[in-house]
Amino acid sequence: MASLATEKLVARAERAGVAAPFLIEQDWKAYTPEQHATWAELVGRRMPQLREHACREYLDGFEQIGLREDLLPDLSAVSARLAPRTGWESTPVSGFLPADAFFAMLAARMFPTTTWLRSRESMEYTPEPDIFHDVFGHVPMHAHPVFADFLEHYGKVCAGLTDAEDLERMGRLFWFTVEFGLIRQDGGVKVYGSGLISSHGECSRVIAGGSEVKDFDLDAVLEQRFDTGAMQPVLYAVESFEQIYDAAKLAERRLG
Ligand SMILES: [Fe+2]
Repeated sequence: MASLATEKLVARAERAGVAAPFLIEQDWKAYTPEQHATWAELVGRRMPQLREHACREYLDGFEQIGLREDLLPDLSAVSARLAPRTGWESTPVSGFLPADAFFAMLAARMFPTTTWLRSRESMEYTPEPDIFHDVFGHVPMHAHPVFADFLEHYGKVCAGLTDAEDLERMGRLFWFTVEFGLIRQDGGVKVYGSGLISSHGECSRVIAGGSEVKDFDLDAVLEQRFDTGAMQPVLYAVESFEQIYDAAKLAERRLG
């Protein structure tokens, strides 16, 4: 008879569909004291600025999913706190996923999460996402019901697209919301995109007025090219998270 742990793995693989070969287990006990200390330093450096400049949904989500400053997150514990709120989980994967696997996981409310942590020598920037970018940067927003619905819908829409140009356009929607999104709140512009949440340099530059902030507009975003290796000259601010959920639904009707 299969153990409960095995049954859980099988169920998770079924849910992940084409992404199943990329699923791994997080070996939380294998993190070293030095790695926990690196995580603590990364979080400690970001929180003072984020308490002032992150949107309230991010800060609420950080508390709700039980993130800690002193210890790297145990993804199963994070998922256990997310599930009753929005049905999302933070699912460990082996690394960068092909597009179809990435979209399949989003559509199943599974966020592909890397388990490695950057070294002390690259505190500010890593070319590929690590657990700090993925969990600290992304996952708190998944506790927010509307953002959670948006992200699942985004995955479903993209999973149904085949045209390369349509997929590129949807990549821009992801970039200017999930990765570099801004929201107008409490009389100012607050950050919610993971690239801003997790990068002190990029976030500081945006706060200082280094990017032009435009009102979110789906048509403009779908045509706005970006350079992943450069600071962002133009960013888009929404009025509410309903706006990006509506945008994903509108994009679904327009593309494909
Ligand atoms: Fe990201």
